[in-house]
Amino acid sequence: MWGDGQSTTTFWSGSRIDQICTNRVFSVPDLPAHHRYKSRPETSSHHPRERRRIQHTLPKMTTYEVPVDFRNIKDKTILITGCSTGIGRATAKLAYEHGAKLALADWNEVEAKNLLAELRNTDRLLFYKTDVSKWDNILQVFQGAWKKFGKIDAVISNAGINQENLLDEEIDEATGMLKAPSLKNLEVNLVAHIYVVKCAVHYFAKAPGKRSQIIMTGSAASYIDTSPLYQYCAAKAGLLGLMRAFRTRLISKNITINMIAPWMTISPMLPQAIVDMWGTLPANSPAGVAHALLLPVVDESINGKVFFVAGNKITELEDKIHECQHIWMGAQLSEDVDEGQRRLVPAGIHPEQK
Ligand SMILES: NC(=O)c1ccc[n+]([C@@H]2O[C@H](COP(=O)([O-])OP(=O)(O)OC[C@H]3O[C@@H](n4cnc5c(N)ncnc54)[C@H](O)[C@@H]3O)[C@@H](O)[C@H]2O)c1
Repeated sequence: MWGDGQSTTTFWSGSRIDQICTNRVFSVPDLPAHHRYKSRPETSSHHPRERRRIQHTLPKMTTYEVPVDFRNIKDKTILITGCSTGIGRATAKLAYEHGAKLALADWNEVEAKNLLAELRNTDRLLFYKTDVSKWDNILQVFQGAWKKFGKIDAVISNAGINQENLLDEEIDEATGMLKAPSLKNLEVNLVAHIYVVKCAVHYFAKAPGKRSQIIMTGSAASYIDTSPLYQYCAAKAGLLGLMRAFRTRLISKNITINMIAPWMTISPMLPQAIVDMWGTLPANSPAGVAHALLLPVVDESINGKVFFVAGNKITELEDKIHECQHIWMGAQLSEDVDEGQRRLVPAGIHPEQK
């Protein structure tokens, strides 16, 4: 059951995803029409016979029309990093519209102040100029949010950068030797999220007795190679590992953890040349991704999932990756691995098996 429990089970037809992967798909019904996904003609290079074989081997899909009812968000305190532009800004606006109290963090103070002015600077808002790659900065936002609002209900760890130049060679003039590369990308896109999770667990515990949520913004790059963003890819795949490692553990503290993996999203992060190259392929709007980010806050039962967001359409990946494990590992190895997981991970192989 999703949202307010009014979910319907339907089968999508005509989309590429259900023909090939039969994944669980969450739709975003209340976006303006021009934001919605339009299915395109099938362009897969799979041979039809191979596709039929895959369809037979895979479990039948379950599709949920999600009634995104945001009433559950009212009066919750949500901490959002990377709030100044793009996805984080859209998420802050969406949550605020639905009555949330917001603790916002970003190093771009100018755009954050514009956002605060747009939201009329009420006492439901708190902003800290923050470099998320610095522990002290993150701690200050959590401490400030807790002091002002008395509790933190959900944390959206979203700040990210995509600049890097790992293969550029810089030579130290003094020694004539190769300089160490900057690891700023890893610090912002991976280390900062570890800091956020650490603080979230600590501050959630200060107001016990409720279920709390951590949602991290990963990327399609968590699954798909995204060269030449080498550190970015490593960091976003790292976030997936972090989420998987925590999902069976944090639930015992009444904390859910989920990740979203946006595909191409038209935000200030993208150079115009990339947007031009993308052409008419499905792209997200920041508002579309914001719906996916807030879904686990709306439906507190969601744990350990990844929402791949493409063309503002939300597809859950983790359940089906596991269900198909016997195909890509082979039946015997898959069974052995599951049994190994059952023995090693107390909560079992799957986040639901708590
Ligand atoms: N745009 C895409 O196509 C795309 C695709 C997949 C994932 N993402 C991810 O979505 C998230 C949001 O990106 P976006 O597309 O909205 O781009 P964006 O550049 O508009 O937003 C990133 C935000 O993070 C802030 N930020 C960056 N480094 C920071 C730091 N060290 N401390 C504090 N704040 C910092 C920026 O100021 C900005 O407000 C990122 O994690 C990004 O990796 C984006």
